[in-house]
Amino acid sequence: MSTGAEGAPAGAPSSPDRPRTDGDTVAPLIQFQDVSKTFGQGPDAVSALRGVTLDIQAGDIFAIIGGSGAGKSTLVRMINALESATAGHIVIEGTDITTLSERELRQVRSRMGMIFQQFNLMRSRHVYGNIAYPLKIAKWPKDKQKARVTELLNFVGLLDKAWSYPDQLSGGQKQRVGIARALATNPSILLADESTSALDPETTEDVLRLLQRVNSELGVTVVVITHEMDVVRSIANRVAVLDRGRLIEVGSVYEVFSRPQADTTRKFVESALRDRPDGVDVERLKQRHQGRLVLVDVTNDDRIGRVLAHRARVSDLEFDFVFGGITSLHDGSFGKITLELVGSPDSVDRTVADLRAVTVVEDVA
Ligand SMILES: Nc1ncnc2c1ncn2[C@@H]1O[C@H](COP(=O)(O)OP(=O)(O)OP(=O)(O)O)[C@@H](O)[C@H]1O
Ligand SMILES: [Mg+2]
Repeated sequence: MSTGAEGAPAGAPSSPDRPRTDGDTVAPLIQFQDVSKTFGQGPDAVSALRGVTLDIQAGDIFAIIGGSGAGKSTLVRMINALESATAGHIVIEGTDITTLSERELRQVRSRMGMIFQQFNLMRSRHVYGNIAYPLKIAKWPKDKQKARVTELLNFVGLLDKAWSYPDQLSGGQKQRVGIARALATNPSILLADESTSALDPETTEDVLRLLQRVNSELGVTVVVITHEMDVVRSIANRVAVLDRGRLIEVGSVYEVFSRPQADTTRKFVESALRDRPDGVDVERLKQRHQGRLVLVDVTNDDRIGRVLAHRARVSDLEFDFVFGGITSLHDGSFGKITLELVGSPDSVDRTVADLRAVTVVEDVA
């Protein structure tokens, strides 16, 4: 897993040249500075992005989440200048791309690859031809094209499929071809718009592992749009949440998952983790358990366990874990657990008070 600024290994084949500032701080690879985007004009105008300020560091696997129409695709399409900003600045590798000519933008775009939900492969060309296409456009000599395509086929594990056509491939294989094609010209940034949404869970896992290798072995910064929190959990180190064009939350995946600030984020996280009992669950739990039901936030520490063990030792308290789960990320664990507390009213109250001293506790009602 990459760790932001220090993520990309030194000397990796396509490791981006990181713009350095004085001292040890590294300038972000991609910066959005108060960026807005409006489509159309007058009464039909749609504000797709509103005042978004955001940094993506070299080496990040940066996830963007948000509901339908939140502005995710627009944001990513602005990174490779497929959409222009209505206001604000987008700075990439130290260059403000909002002021560049179309010719200069082509240069910026050549440093980026993109993959898509529907793969966007050319059906009339075999795998080799699809991967070689961007090299042909960039006027690479034939022998260099061949060496590069072979290297990429090897990297994505499709050497034996070079002469197959897209229609002869599985979804996961098609996305591997998409990734190889996107990497052909050695970009420093890979943009992935819902790149696993059309895949089953097992294939998704394979593609995510590949994206992780693109990041760790090739030093490529990866920006993934997804509506699947599991994708965020499994590969990203940082995440931004968009809601109706606004950036409502950004941080490390652990920060955002364990302490979501905005309601929209909280709902996203809860829907992915399913650790908070919903109405039906609560009814079922109440039928099954006669004790007091409380929902506790579990984080990295063991104080909850110690409180429960202590109260059970010094009073008539008994407890059980009846719902929920704990999720583990590379920088910590968190989740919500519903507890059933059984005992005299006094010892149950004391237990809840002691738990409240160490974590967030809600009564399940
Ligand atoms: N070319 C366009 N012309 C007019 N409106 C557009 C255009 N592209 C996007 N929009 C509008 O901008 C808003 C943001 O769209 P965007 O495609 O960025 O959302 P999204 O978060 O990617 O959604 P989804 O999850 O459904 O893909 C939406 O209201 C959309 O209708
Ligand atoms: Mg989209």
